[in-house]
Amino acid sequence: MRRVNTSRFESGAEKYAAYLATTEGRLRVDLAWENLRAFLPQCAVGCSPELRRALDLGGGTGALAVRLAGFGFDVVVVDSSDAMLALAEQAARAAGVSSSISLRHAGAAELSKEFPTACFDVVVCHSLLEYVENLAEVLCAIRRLLRGAGAAASILVRNRLGEVLKAAIQSGDLDLAETNLSAEWAAESLYGESARLFDAADLRSRLLEAGLKVVAERGVRVIADYLPASLLQDERAYARIFALETMLGERPEFAGIARYTQFLVQPAHA
Ligand SMILES: C[S@@+](CC[C@H](N)C(=O)[O-])C[C@H]1O[C@@H](n2cnc3c(N)ncnc32)[C@H](O)[C@@H]1O
Repeated sequence: MRRVNTSRFESGAEKYAAYLATTEGRLRVDLAWENLRAFLPQCAVGCSPELRRALDLGGGTGALAVRLAGFGFDVVVVDSSDAMLALAEQAARAAGVSSSISLRHAGAAELSKEFPTACFDVVVCHSLLEYVENLAEVLCAIRRLLRGAGAAASILVRNRLGEVLKAAIQSGDLDLAETNLSAEWAAESLYGESARLFDAADLRSRLLEAGLKVVAERGVRVIADYLPASLLQDERAYARIFALETMLGERPEFAGIARYTQFLVQPAHA
């Protein structure tokens, strides 16, 4: 098992927040949220609105937690970085949803200790599995935390094939592109440190092994990383890219080469 150093998220939390304000960062959050939002009405069926609970695992700056709270969920953000949790707290305050968001400093490996029973209708796990040591353990913990057949989780991971195109098109590094075809790990551009890469078919079967069946699969950021800067200038352009990305991300042939893959999953057996 490879030990991953996650101190980057403590010392570099502001850097991560600045990335989320870029076109690429915004698109990752906005597209993943829209994909998840389409499923939310089906979650927590039978729960009165005040009982709908969500967990944002590795929730970082709270970008998704704030949206879930706005949608009527009580949200717990779990993160191993105090600096990230401080940003999440600020975001919750700024959005006026502090009373619906609680923050917990913990590692993904401590989920069973933190939450001994199934107590969430929705679990969000976006861009976290790249850094955990024991993937199977975290996936099983997510399954254990989902309560009821209607509960769902959203899992977003870095797509290996997207790293091939990124190395070739963005960096012009054909050797790296070839290496990335089969690489288990790559250096992420923001911090220059390691992040795990995922193959969609492999993760699908690991999810099933953990008792989670895939109900939808989307590509996130198919073309945005390779567009000329002249196209990324204003909100109208952003809306146009967002609309096209949404269409492409729903089509398997494009989703297969996106930078990220998003799985919407539910308990395989209630
Ligand atoms: C790339 S950020 C993603 C943040 C957020 N989910 C998003 O999509 O913007 C990864 C987050 O996971 C947290 N993290 C990394 N390893 C973790 C672990 N083992 N347990 C809990 N949190 C972890 C980091 O502190 C960071 O906030």
